[in-house]
Amino acid sequence: MKTLQKIIVDAPSKRYAVYCGKGALRELGPVVRGIAGTAGVFVLTSPNVARRWERPVLSALRLARGAKPILFDDREAAKNLATVEKVCRELIRAGADRHSTLVAVGGGVVGDVVGFVAASYLRGVKLIHVPTTLVAQVDSAVGGKTGVNLAEGKNLVGAFYQPDAVIVDPATLKTLPEREYRSGIYEVIKYGIISDSKLFRVCERELEGILDRDPAALNVIIPRCVRAKARVTALDEREAGLRETLNFGHTFAHALESVTNYCVFRHGEAVAWGIIAATLLGIAAANLPLHDAARIIRLVRRVGPLPALPKVSAAGLLAAMRSDKKSQGGRLRFVLPTKIGTVRTGVKLPEPLVSLVWNTLVQTGRSLQ
Ligand code: NAD
Ligand code: GLY
Repeated sequence: MKTLQKIIVDAPSKRYAVYCGKGALRELGPVVRGIAGTAGVFVLTSPNVARRWERPVLSALRLARGAKPILFDDREAAKNLATVEKVCRELIRAGADRHSTLVAVGGGVVGDVVGFVAASYLRGVKLIHVPTTLVAQVDSAVGGKTGVNLAEGKNLVGAFYQPDAVIVDPATLKTLPEREYRSGIYEVIKYGIISDSKLFRVCERELEGILDRDPAALNVIIPRCVRAKARVTALDEREAGLRETLNFGHTFAHALESVTNYCVFRHGEAVAWGIIAATLLGIAAANLPLHDAARIIRLVRRVGPLPALPKVSAAGLLAAMRSDKKSQGGRLRFVLPTKIGTVRTGVKLPEPLVSLVWNTLVQTGRSLQ
């Protein structure tokens, strides 16, 4: 298999390439120059990511000497409209105009914030993502969902805004803290469950290599996820149907993140609990075979320990789920697995069943850590 792959996302609103594989960062300069020329390129990232990756990114871009990135806080608690305003004002002060290009370097928080800024700053400027977490490389940097949180819930303000290119270099993962890296693996497993049973088997077989960040394993799983995301984005850019499959595990996950004020779970860890919950619901309401359910839960558990579930009542969790943007008229909708590789979307479930699964998980959760 080639180390550097060019995967095309043929979304209705924009066609663009994802350069994926070892050495992709070297393509950043030529890609940006091809899309944007050399003037008006602004790198946006967080202090944390800049500490490790500012130098390689600036040198790949060959920006003028003394060029500095615009930095902002990339904690989930700062993924809000105040940060969007701060970044926009810094862009104004730095002289960014309608022909400028924003280069977002970081994890999902940086990508979601900069994506939303790119969609709205001067009514839209060019955008290039350089994702540096596994979550961002396999999911958030591709497909054009951007946005920020409100106190009332996650990602409640945002826009669909496709980038002009994405540079996915697994080498950037080498500085990622262990827990952040493992969080991304749950999103990879998600793709296996929703649409790619072969990827699921690869994860089962190669999990130790994946956990060790073995380049050969990454070179298989990351492009596979990017291709899956590209396929879904091309067919259903604005989530009229098929794209809902990507929300597998997220109804529980977003509620968990919200009731814990985004302080307890990494996004992927919340998704891991969400996958387990949706798997139990799948047995109860989508004829998921027990054997498949056992494989899913076993694989999720093999990735590593998860933070304990919070002591929140089922009523409290259901309330958080209802304020999620995936609910319709206050009715909860779930994505449930029917077998490994296939899910059913838009499943409306009786709330007592969801409460039962939550209470069961809270009671047995300790043994799952
Ligand atoms: P993150 O952006 O919160 O980053 C995690 C941590 O890793 C941060 O402290 C960051 O500074 C640090 N970091 C990033 N890259 C690093 C590197 N290479 N080396 C060292 N440290 C590094 O986490 P995430 O999991 O990437 O993103 C989660 C966010 O993405 C959530 O807000 C979630 O809602 C969003 N998301 C969006 C989509 C989408 O489609 N838009 C999809 C999935 C997740
Ligand atoms: N991460 C879900 C989506 O992009 O639709």
